[in-house]
Amino acid sequence: MIPISKPLIGNEEKEAVLAVLESGRLAQGPKVQEFEEEFARFCGVQHAIATSSGTTALLTALLAHRIGLGDEVITSPFTFVASANSILFTGARPIFVDIEEESYNIDPALIESKVTSRTRAIMPVHLYGYPCNMDGIMDLASTHNLVVIEDACQAHGAAIRGQKVGSYGTGCFSFYPSKNMTTAEGGMITTGDDKIAERARLIRNHGQSQLYHHVAPGYNFRMTELQAAMGLVQLRKLPSWNRKRIENASYLTERLSNVVTPRVKEGYEHVFHQYTVRVRHDRDGALEKLAQAGIGARVYYPLPVHQQPLYRELGFDDSLPVAERMSREVLSLPVHPGLTPEELDKIASEVSKL
Ligand SMILES: Cc1ncc(COP(=O)(O)O)c(C=O)c1O
Repeated sequence: MIPISKPLIGNEEKEAVLAVLESGRLAQGPKVQEFEEEFARFCGVQHAIATSSGTTALLTALLAHRIGLGDEVITSPFTFVASANSILFTGARPIFVDIEEESYNIDPALIESKVTSRTRAIMPVHLYGYPCNMDGIMDLASTHNLVVIEDACQAHGAAIRGQKVGSYGTGCFSFYPSKNMTTAEGGMITTGDDKIAERARLIRNHGQSQLYHHVAPGYNFRMTELQAAMGLVQLRKLPSWNRKRIENASYLTERLSNVVTPRVKEGYEHVFHQYTVRVRHDRDGALEKLAQAGIGARVYYPLPVHQQPLYRELGFDDSLPVAERMSREVLSLPVHPGLTPEELDKIASEVSKL
């Protein structure tokens, strides 16, 4: 089976992790700091704060902006559930806005009608590695004085006219093994705001300003030195891996004519965390045929967040027709940099036969 994702771990990662094991310093320390500095430089921001996962990065970022009970945060229903769950965990309420058919991302034209006196933030999700329309979103945020927390968990290195995602608002990244770079588990917050950075650092470490001196509510959301050592190596490899993903995506787009292939707007850099096509007729049958042919295609996501049992139970009864239709039509194909030319050719020919 050609897998949908494959972490690429080389000797450099193994040596870096072993060196940490031998150093005796295992929990958050100098490697984490070095990783934060390099990640901040990569995104073109002043600060990066490492966390234990993408989910805790999102939660910490929301808490650092003092979002909580009684607040509303506007986000996309077409995402991994962690985006909305992190909002729920602060006590705030996610408000779902439908997506654009072409980008699968939140539709800025539909946001304004959902802004109320309780709205504090917009959380755009750069799904599949494709940047949201940040011009539209930043304009709205500035008009209504809203915070922007970018869920960039799938979009390391994606950019609009050279400006990286995660540098528009407060950015949140995940380093889960399926992502464009990995630390096994891990996350990162990016920000240009000194105060938000300081608060995020406190929250991820029990609100501790000095040893055993606690000035804010916080938790243990720290990253380990092992993860940071691995992340430093992976970050150096990320640009060439992203180029390979883009190359693989171009190849597939050239070969595929019987499915709707991804569109990339002028000036937008898609890093193809996923290569997602739309199959208008019998997507689930297509998925099964591909599995039989040895292609590990997957559906991200078969049920939008507002229709998940938990959210139904919590009283979410929105009708979001584009997200609902996309969840029935999308199919992601392997596009990762570990694919051989033969595998890529096989994916294209099997999809062409659907
Ligand atoms: C869009 C999105 N948001 C949030 C997350 C949460 O990241 P993590 O799994 O590292 O907690 C993920 C990754 O799984 C994701 O894809």
